[in-house]
Amino acid sequence: MMERIQEIFRKARVVPVISPEGQADARKLGQALIDGGMLCAEVTFRSQTAPECLSVLTGNFPGLCSGAGTILNVEQARLAKSCGARFVVTPAFNARVVDYCLEQELPVIPGICTPYEVELALRKGLDFLKFFPAQVGGTAMLKALSGPYRFVTFMPTGGITVDNLNSYLALENVAACGASWLAPSKLIEAGDFDAITARCRQTLETSEK
Ligand code: 3PG
Repeated sequence: MMERIQEIFRKARVVPVISPEGQADARKLGQALIDGGMLCAEVTFRSQTAPECLSVLTGNFPGLCSGAGTILNVEQARLAKSCGARFVVTPAFNARVVDYCLEQELPVIPGICTPYEVELALRKGLDFLKFFPAQVGGTAMLKALSGPYRFVTFMPTGGITVDNLNSYLALENVAACGASWLAPSKLIEAGDFDAITARCRQTLETSEK
């Protein structure tokens, strides 16, 4: 199942990290992302309404592979699963969340930013990891990690924009990048979903993998 998620992410190239604040916005955002050619979305579990927003996406947009991000504990992972999350992303390596997701056969992409954390993940059999915060270390760190961990693939997130996206996607050990830049809260709050669609399209047009 992890292989399938990695395949979808690789095809997607970019994964919008989104924080809609209610069901109406989630619905409009789901449509805007699909219109913009996006294949995935990561809903950050940072607000009270995040679970219902994720449910709107998983229930109404089967073509968008939607999951939960910023999962900090097992309770949130359980909630994400009940909302139909197709994957779980964590900011750091959290063994409890990882164990829960593995038990539930729910694909999990734990955050790492050191070799030590890469090895914690490898011990759990995971070789597709979020590299966070990506801009701390950047592409130089990913190149260095590709030496000892040549069989590990990463999803850099944190500071990715249209300006540096291609420098990450050019790396063999990068499947996709996560970015809130595609659908920032500022545009969601302004109701400017057309701008979000345009941003997604522009990003896909200019990105190369
Ligand atoms: C995350 O939530 O994973 C990151 O904070 C997103 O980072 P960005 O806002 O720099 O894209």
